[in-house]
Amino acid sequence: MSDHHNRPHITLVSEVTIDGKLTVTRGASSKLLMQFMSHEAEVLLHQIRADSDAIMVGANTIRIDNSFLTVRHVPGKNPIRVIPTSKADISPDANILSPDAPTIIAVSSLADKEKCSELVQKGAHIEICGEQSVNLSALMRLLYEKYAVKSLMIEGGSTLNGYMFQEGLIDELVLIHLPFIAGGEDTPSLVTGLHPRDVTDLLKLELITQYLAGDNLITKWRVKRTR
Ligand SMILES: NC(=O)c1ccc[n+]([C@@H]2O[C@H](COP(=O)([O-])OP(=O)(O)OC[C@H]3O[C@@H](n4cnc5c(N)ncnc54)[C@H](OP(=O)(O)O)[C@@H]3O)[C@@H](O)[C@H]2O)c1
Repeated sequence: MSDHHNRPHITLVSEVTIDGKLTVTRGASSKLLMQFMSHEAEVLLHQIRADSDAIMVGANTIRIDNSFLTVRHVPGKNPIRVIPTSKADISPDANILSPDAPTIIAVSSLADKEKCSELVQKGAHIEICGEQSVNLSALMRLLYEKYAVKSLMIEGGSTLNGYMFQEGLIDELVLIHLPFIAGGEDTPSLVTGLHPRDVTDLLKLELITQYLAGDNLITKWRVKRTR
């Protein structure tokens, strides 16, 4: 059972290389890697999407991958799509604004009003959540209270993942391991932005289960609460 209240249960799902990278090289779409996922792993990913009330990815993932974030490999409903971007820096032509599901763009007070109204015209809901940047804890409460989001899936990238961990907002982690090593110092990995001073500061996880989906190893982890 989760120990949070006034926010959704939050699961981070990620496709990672053996060295924990999210993509082939900095600036490259993760779709290049995802094409090597087994059908069974794709089904798992899309089943988690269908079982979630909402899905959130970072704005840079939208700018690079131009994702739809819809359910295609299983029957089921599309989750509400949520994108945090402090200055509303999402193209009005982005696939995330397709009519397949509601899309919430969470911005800060700094966001340009004209950009916001352009996105509203494309059907997006704009939510102002923070002064300089998007306050993720406040956004989680808003999703829970205003949009009835009880389960939220996070699908990257490393910057958003890092902030979510930092705020103590991840309950579970599902990793789809891909049989590659990407290397590359500046290639985005599962998480950036955490700076543990020593071993006591490390984020601690507990393995829930592991199995094969086709030829991809799947591991599921629970994030241990330290406070
Ligand atoms: N393998 C996988 O499962 C997977 C999944 C997703 C992405 N990826 C890959 O990851 C890479 C992108 O990762 P990334 O680290 O560059 O970017 P990211 O985490 O996708 O997006 C980060 C951006 O989100 C916006 N943002 C606004 N408020 C935020 C907040 N409070 N906390 C965090 N972010 C906030 C910021 O953009 P603004 O400047 O607009 O505020 C920030 O630069 C891409 O190469 C993509 O292909 C891989």
